[in-house]
Amino acid sequence: MIEFRNVTKLLGGNAVLDNLNLTIKQGEVFVIVGTSGAGKSVTLKHMVRLMTPDEGNVYIKGEDITNATGADLERARERFGYLFQGGALLAWLSVMDNVALPLREKTDMPEDEIISKVRKTLALVGLEDDGDKKPSEISGGMQKRAGLARAIIREPEIILYDEPTSGLDPVTSRTIDTLIDDMSENLGVTSVVVTHDLHSALAIGDRIAMLGGGKIVELATPDEFIVSDKPEVQAFLESQYITKEGSWERKKS
Ligand SMILES: Nc1ncnc2c1ncn2[C@@H]1O[C@H](COP(=O)(O)OP(=O)(O)OP(=O)(O)O)[C@@H](O)[C@H]1O
Ligand SMILES: [Mg+2]
Repeated sequence: MIEFRNVTKLLGGNAVLDNLNLTIKQGEVFVIVGTSGAGKSVTLKHMVRLMTPDEGNVYIKGEDITNATGADLERARERFGYLFQGGALLAWLSVMDNVALPLREKTDMPEDEIISKVRKTLALVGLEDDGDKKPSEISGGMQKRAGLARAIIREPEIILYDEPTSGLDPVTSRTIDTLIDDMSENLGVTSVVVTHDLHSALAIGDRIAMLGGGKIVELATPDEFIVSDKPEVQAFLESQYITKEGSWERKKS
């Protein structure tokens, strides 16, 4: 579905992606973890050609988008919904208008259908009463959920989630996890989730990839991931107090 072949990307003199190879299968929830600056957001940006590789190629459904332009690029991008890190809502539009934007800009759906679709999607993310508010009038977590509503409004084949649960309380985080899982189970959406939240990663991932040094340092199912003997993975698990048995470890005795 999404394939990176020998992708190298230099930024600020560093190979942020260093000969990266990656294959994401149709319908799976593919989770990407890694320390801050590891290149997770850069990887997502390559999938929609917001960034282009210096070397190597990116394929979407077998189609090489590395040098795609015009209608070809547009068509490739149509397949995606993108929840940006930080939400990226337009400050001068209401929540409802933000969520409606992709429909108004990219489809000729009649306005009454748009409104009803937006209402349904806002309800899905628990914002049914907040459509008339401006982004500045709602909390960070609500902005995140509004961004999510906008990412899924056109029912894309692939959804890229950049830190969907960061800054959210644990209860809301689990609601978002459930939503991501439902999108994949019920609608067959292919999901790529960048997260620091290991609980999310282990709960919803079909496979988890850990990025480091511009490469994949581990690629495993959640069950395999927690028993990985790679030092980077163990450090990451320990930082969130998860043991090899997958249980919480209390530091104080
Ligand atoms: N447009 C850019 N120009 C120059 N350097 C960039 C650019 N975008 C990203 N970088 C650099 O590439 C590296 C990877 O950035 P990226 O945003 O992918 O990190 P990340 O893994 O998403 O981190 P975080 O968890 O903090 O979001 C960083 O060192 C960053 O400074
Ligand atoms: Mg990032």
